[in-house]
Amino acid sequence: MASPKNIVVLTGSGISAESGVATFRDTGGIWAKYDYREVATPEGFAADPALVHRFYNDRRRGLSSVAPNAAHFALGELEAGLAARGSVMTLITQNVDDLHERAGSQNLLHMHGELSKSQCGACGDVRACGEDLSIEIACPVCERAGALRPFVVWFGEMPRFMDAAMEAIASADLFVSIGTSGSVYPAAGFVTDARGAGVAAMELNLEPSENAHFFTDSRYGPATKIVPAWVREMLGESGAD
Ligand code: APR
Repeated sequence: MASPKNIVVLTGSGISAESGVATFRDTGGIWAKYDYREVATPEGFAADPALVHRFYNDRRRGLSSVAPNAAHFALGELEAGLAARGSVMTLITQNVDDLHERAGSQNLLHMHGELSKSQCGACGDVRACGEDLSIEIACPVCERAGALRPFVVWFGEMPRFMDAAMEAIASADLFVSIGTSGSVYPAAGFVTDARGAGVAAMELNLEPSENAHFFTDSRYGPATKIVPAWVREMLGESGAD
């Protein structure tokens, strides 16, 4: 297509897979090892907060041993390259890791929250969190103990930045979905929102997602190969993989 002015990119755990971050529904993924109802719902947290803290503490600790891969860096370069020519890229991620920001993405919406932040369930304070959370720790603002939780959106909770995401999609001329199985709404519905607004949609994934038939274009393969190649095309650069 002709150079798009506004691009919206949605990413899922597949973009971080080659960095060593586990996906959710692939063979051996996180939901094969844990029951999401126990570790990723408000009810699960109420029933066993220590278990939920252990689950997210392990994942938070894991962030220090992983690094952004070529796909994350390519998206950082795409945002900067488009900005230099007056275009806008909005990156919406379902990932709670921090690999996009470490790869230079700035116009970034973490719709499912961030592992590297905590939230107080009593006063709502959100702050950077590099340490383990536990039920013993008191909130530094309201001083209530036992109310701190990971700043992640659980099943049954409202994803963040939905208005900004919908606005960006409606005014885009290209929507691109990368590394997501398309099984969790509302993110899984972004492609039909885009198509309903007349926006072209491309899927970049290891394999066709559950929503593959909604996309107008697709490329399949590992993110570290297909994302940099696509970004080079978008920026009008050529060169072998
Ligand atoms: N390159 C590209 N895609 C990949 C790669 C890779 N190297 N490895 C795996 N994938 C693809 C898989 O084929 C799959 O379609 O990434 C997708 C991962 O899908 P899921 O495990 O379902 O993860 P995701 O779509 O991010 O899940 C959405 O579900 O439980 C929740 O909150 C969690 O944000 C998460 C949401």
